Amino acid sequence: MINIAIVGTGSISNLHIQGILEFPDRCKIVALCDIYPEKAEAMIEKYNLGSDVAVFADHKSMLESDVKIDMVHVCTPPYVHSSISIDCMDAGLNVLVEKPMAASLEECDEMLEAEKRNGVTLGVIAQNRFRNGVYKLKKLAASGLAGKVCLARVDSNWWRAHCYYDLWWRGTWEKEGGGPTLNHAVHHIDMLNWIEERSPIEATAVLTNVMHDNAEVEDLSLACLKYEDGSVAEVLASVISHGEEQGITLQCADAKISMPWDLKAEIGMENGFYKDGGNKELIEKINKFYDEIPDLKYEGHTGEIDNYLTALETGTRPLITGEDGKRTIEVITAIYVAGFEKKTISLPIGKDSKYYKKGGIKDNAIHFYEKKASVENFTEQKISVGKY
Ligand SMILES: NC(=O)c1ccc[n+]([C@@H]2O[C@H](COP(=O)([O-])OP(=O)(O)OC[C@H]3O[C@@H](n4cnc5c(N)ncnc54)[C@H](O)[C@@H]3O)[C@@H](O)[C@H]2O)c1
Repeated sequence: MINIAIVGTGSISNLHIQGILEFPDRCKIVALCDIYPEKAEAMIEKYNLGSDVAVFADHKSMLESDVKIDMVHVCTPPYVHSSISIDCMDAGLNVLVEKPMAASLEECDEMLEAEKRNGVTLGVIAQNRFRNGVYKLKKLAASGLAGKVCLARVDSNWWRAHCYYDLWWRGTWEKEGGGPTLNHAVHHIDMLNWIEERSPIEATAVLTNVMHDNAEVEDLSLACLKYEDGSVAEVLASVISHGEEQGITLQCADAKISMPWDLKAEIGMENGFYKDGGNKELIEKINKFYDEIPDLKYEGHTGEIDNYLTALETGTRPLITGEDGKRTIEVITAIYVAGFEKKTISLPIGKDSKYYKKGGIKDNAIHFYEKKASVENFTEQKISVGKY
């Protein structure tokens, strides 16, 4: 039985608790911690977790207590992801940290070092890998049936009202760490890295803020990533997109495949123009392959929690490791630097770059606006975590 603590019992902790409760034979919640302990108490009541769940107002007193904990879900705002995760790992506990892993590459390194030093397991939330459409697209891309990826288009389209950035930690480079490029496209950039199985070597980007004059950070960015073989990926990160039409389209050498699912495969005539009806044989083959991939047993956070618990139970690595979390932060950092400096940035980003360092992005970021309001807590707890 794996004893779990959750630090940060706000909106996203609901999905963690719901996921954990799916596996009562494998794990149980023994502690909840929040700087507003009444929010932790409310979760105990909401989910009927039982009176023996301990509540703490700070993670250090939780770690010093005699409550036996094996793993911690870190569900706080991004600026404390690294410090809380490292404290937990130094106390010998395994950590599953919400996205984004941290707001700087240096903090990612520190977290990876803590994982190694303490012989524990660090996992990073990227729950959309556990969605059938994403998972099947990955399997299909890896099969090679569609050929090499030449152009990837990533649509990280979200919509958030103006007041979204009024929450005390949001909309600031210091506490949220960035706008949708970091906090929303993190999901799609993780998918892209996972599907591509490689990192880009260059990034160019435009950052702007067109709808949220209460936030320091961007609310829209467009980036172009280039890979060593000359292929490219376009990444759109937005919180201004009505309808939140999200997805990934891969134009591969032999076919276009995408999530939401679509398939096209052209074949040329003697004059180089495409033949009507396309490459019927390949289309049939790919459709068959795709249809035969079994659905995932658990999707979203529940799927990732299942995978992480399995890693602890079997002494294996979880699907989404700290290294994966860092690779995603590296691409995001490159997009920010390209946008701030208005030039093409090479990856990997060197440790000597000021942007690699803790606070490096915060200290050098463009402030699109200044934060005007600071709401302690919203009453409404219902959130959406994307379509894909
Ligand atoms: N995976 C996803 O799809 C998804 C969706 C939404 C949010 N998130 C991530 O989850 C994290 C939290 O977001 P949220 O929307 O739940 O925010 P939230 O503000 O609703 O919840 C965060 C909670 O952390 C508490 N907290 C803050 N500092 C703390 C500290 N030092 N120690 C203990 N508790 C502390 C706050 O009081 C709050 O209750 C963020 O990193 C966010 O990016 C992920």
